[in-house]
Amino acid sequence: MPSVRFFSGETVPLEMHKVRVVQKLTLPDIDTRLAAITAAGNNTFLLQNRDVFMDMLTDSGVNAMSDRQVAAMMVADDSYAGSATYTRLETRLREIFGMDWILPTHQGRACENILAQVMVTPGSIVPMNYHFTTTKAHIVLNGGSVEEIIHARGLEVTSDEPFKGDMDVAALERLVAEHGAGRIAFVRVEAGTNLIGGQPVSLANLQEVRAACDRHGLTLVYDASLMADNLYFLKTREAACRDLSIREITRKIADLCDVIYFSARKLGCARGGAICVRDEALYNRMRGLVPLYEGFLTYGGMSVREIEALTVGLEETMDEDMISQGPQFIAYMVGELDRRGIPVITPAGGLGCHIDVMRFLDHVPQPQYSAGALASALYIASGVRGMERGTLSEQRAPDGTEPLANMELVRLAMPRRVFTLSQVKYAIDRIDWLWQNRRLVGGLTFVEEPEILRFFYGRLAPVSDWQQRLVAQFKADFGDSL
Ligand code: F0G
Repeated sequence: MPSVRFFSGETVPLEMHKVRVVQKLTLPDIDTRLAAITAAGNNTFLLQNRDVFMDMLTDSGVNAMSDRQVAAMMVADDSYAGSATYTRLETRLREIFGMDWILPTHQGRACENILAQVMVTPGSIVPMNYHFTTTKAHIVLNGGSVEEIIHARGLEVTSDEPFKGDMDVAALERLVAEHGAGRIAFVRVEAGTNLIGGQPVSLANLQEVRAACDRHGLTLVYDASLMADNLYFLKTREAACRDLSIREITRKIADLCDVIYFSARKLGCARGGAICVRDEALYNRMRGLVPLYEGFLTYGGMSVREIEALTVGLEETMDEDMISQGPQFIAYMVGELDRRGIPVITPAGGLGCHIDVMRFLDHVPQPQYSAGALASALYIASGVRGMERGTLSEQRAPDGTEPLANMELVRLAMPRRVFTLSQVKYAIDRIDWLWQNRRLVGGLTFVEEPEILRFFYGRLAPVSDWQQRLVAQFKADFGDSL
């Protein structure tokens, strides 16, 4: 997708697609929005979609499909075993990643369940650049622990470092020296680190990680769920990739890895997931779990229609026009917010725009879930649904203490090819208003706190009447306007 310079001098990302199917949206008034978020326990996961104007909760399973994907769904070969649809997926994955052994799953965390059950043993360690919620939960469930060894510059909120997702390879060496390679279940590199701003991993870093794995006989597992964005950043930010095609870059990544798994809800823009394995013996150890948790080996919990859409989606991921739309819209949003002095993670990454809540709400203490409070306030102010990515998304320690997250973020995901630029401009405008009125926003406290993955179902209440005061200010400033 080219960034085109307008006659006015402004540079605007220009869509290389046209919209041919649309869905009607509504924007409820602010009183309805306050009632909706109250009913949802101030948890944006619990909002009803009918009350949401722009759903920026996630890019997972909500990306727009292409005409070719929808068409492919109509020619699927429905069969429990041996369907031609599955063979097409297997062939495509082998061709793109160059790995022979494929296990289909119903989504990304199902891959994590299988990997953790087979490779993690009690007391083992999984070093990774950064954790993802479901990944960590599966590792811990199997008695292992996660060691985050993101390079220090990855946690700098504002930066012009192009590859903030890089792993600290010296830290990996220290872990091996301290615990011994035998305790390391596998090394995991997450493309486009989800929880810290969708920041990419460089090819050079992955090569260094591979070299370290070779020195110590460690298995390298690559979470490719956010690989599409990462490919775009490699192409545009890493000199060694500039002259390579997206397909060639993908293959360079894959050639360094022993296992690649992904959520097809993000990669391939459909549903499902898969584990691609280089070693037949490892594949055989995992294979038995697919029929147990997912479904037969030729569908893995996906419908054949989803598999067809995924196969085409994977092929379309090799198209730079396709994979650049998300990062370029995100860069536009991040740039506009940054220009207004609003704290956002920089440089712009993939997945979405990330608001730095430690600075946005520097008066709200972390134990009052400042990022959750901002997600709630933003919904009230705009009908935009974002996602808390901070202390609320962490798990309480067994002794009841609250581990405070490294970053407090509100993530505004940018589903691919879903929103128009005027909708993005609306979101920017309402965030700007909230920024000017940020002192009105207060904290939250748990009313109901589930033990596992509490951010999904937890219910919270405001610590004061700050939401009523925010609504009053909105009405004073916007009158009858939605
Ligand atoms: N790995 C990464 C990097 C992810 O971003 C996700 C999902 C998963 C694994 C799990 O995949 O949802 O298909 O089971 N991320 C979603 C999100 C949930 O909204 O960021 P899944």
